[in-house]
Amino acid sequence: MAEQRSSQWYAGDDRNAYIHRAWMRRGLPRHAFDGRPHIAIANTASDLTPCNAHFDEVATSVKQGVFEAGGIPVNMPVVSLGETLVRPTAMLWRNMAAMATEEMLRGNPIDGVVLLGGCDKTTPALLMAAASVNLPALVIPGGPMLTGTFRGTPLGCGTDVWRLSEETRAGTLSREQFTRSESAMIRSRGHCNTMGTASTMGLLAEALGMVIPGLAGTPAPDSRLLEASHESGRLAVELVRRGRRPSEILTKAAFHNAVVALSAIGGSTNAVVHLLAIAGRLGVELTLADIDRIGAEVPLLVDLQPAGRFLMEDLHRAGGLRPVLREVRDLLDPTARTVTGSRLVDDLDDAEIWDVEVIRPRSAPIREQAGIAVLTGNLAPSGAVIKPAAASPELLRHRGRAVVFDSIEDMHARIDSPDLDVDADSVLVLRGCGPRGYPGMPEVANMPLPRKLLERGVRDMVRVCDGRMSGTAYGTVVLHVAPEAAAGGPLAVVRDGDPIVLDVAARTITVDVPPGELDRRRPSSALLGGLADPRRGWERLYVDHVMQADTGVDLDFLVGSSGDQVARESH
Ligand code: FES
Ligand code: MG
Repeated sequence: MAEQRSSQWYAGDDRNAYIHRAWMRRGLPRHAFDGRPHIAIANTASDLTPCNAHFDEVATSVKQGVFEAGGIPVNMPVVSLGETLVRPTAMLWRNMAAMATEEMLRGNPIDGVVLLGGCDKTTPALLMAAASVNLPALVIPGGPMLTGTFRGTPLGCGTDVWRLSEETRAGTLSREQFTRSESAMIRSRGHCNTMGTASTMGLLAEALGMVIPGLAGTPAPDSRLLEASHESGRLAVELVRRGRRPSEILTKAAFHNAVVALSAIGGSTNAVVHLLAIAGRLGVELTLADIDRIGAEVPLLVDLQPAGRFLMEDLHRAGGLRPVLREVRDLLDPTARTVTGSRLVDDLDDAEIWDVEVIRPRSAPIREQAGIAVLTGNLAPSGAVIKPAAASPELLRHRGRAVVFDSIEDMHARIDSPDLDVDADSVLVLRGCGPRGYPGMPEVANMPLPRKLLERGVRDMVRVCDGRMSGTAYGTVVLHVAPEAAAGGPLAVVRDGDPIVLDVAARTITVDVPPGELDRRRPSSALLGGLADPRRGWERLYVDHVMQADTGVDLDFLVGSSGDQVARESH
């Protein structure tokens, strides 16, 4: 075995090696520094990230596995992002978490890392960091919550909050009962139990090859999570001994497989920006066009909320990701390898579907051609996305006049006004919500429908936005429009009444005005006045350097890899 990276700190008998060892010898024996792998546990446990609050127990199992395999585990708390609390949106801090984790891995005597990810942004941030340092790494997805029930009905996190609050507004559920449902919804440790972003990214981490096959989707309270965490600790030591790095696992083939999985599970649209960002760290050429093309032929097999019926505990009971992959094996790239060294497609024959209501066989999919569609046109020259599986079929080809909102405040102020000039065919446009404009690209694209139309029974409308949409939401929503309004995209100059044409089959989103007309227009002062212009700190850095949705919303200077070498000593 080659010399460990950590030996650059710990080996020898000079003054610096003495310093490095001495401060670490609070319980660690002398032989901890004899050249055995030091494995960081990148731990996003935080009381403010309730979805990840159980990671200290997970880390304990990882430590036991690392010790058992002859390595030294070191707990490394890293920036943690809780989706429900962090303002203005956790997405603003994803790149900060990735950058901080990357630099702490690079700056410390670490040979490999176990990444503990759960809540939405934590898994992508950790994968981005590991990709850029390129030290041997694997992910333990923290797992979803158990299914809660309230008044006899299962509760899906996120998705059912809207339903219950509507029932309360309608008077069919009392305030007191509404409040009592809180602890029924969040029944256990773990992340949201719908097919939202957290569930999606845990499963995609496995499809990418970065998780022990079969682990992703294991509910957070399930004993098997701890068993697999122990095993992951052992495997991390093995990865270091074999020198198996993320760049060997996260290949173009791996991203291909992740896009196939994303479509088959009906995963969150947020996965698009996360996959693009992770690929960008590795120099893997993955484009929006690839995501459309690869996903286009994949059937939807998993019937989970928000679009479907079941929850993550049901998916796990039905067999988890592996049988889903088995059903679409012919669409997978067989060359991709996982952290275990085997190919993702190996041993899929053993994966069985235990409940065909939750996981449909390939012969009876919920929907054919279920991938996320990528649209372009004069309204989104660099692209936009829509999830047809979450949209109304009759709206996938639609023409309507624009009703434009210049900011989220503008939308809230006017959407329910009886005077709003809107009808069921109108296209609601919300701008100023992109990465740079908001800043941070919040999940606001699925705007509420105008009350007067709701009262007339309208349940869906075409909406267009440069922001994102929660993985727990649905509707005919064109999101991630690039370039965003704040970056000078044509969305900035659309006006009330402009005809907007959506044609998902043709993959286009256009505004039907004479050629050259958009170029002649100038953005309104209401739009410009609402765009973010932070004075200092991370927000300033972010607004100055964030890239657009079509390339993953990373910061321009974080694309690529710095590797694991640090030139200078600190003493
Ligand atoms: Fe953490 Fe939903 S709030 S996964
Ligand atoms: Mg979310």
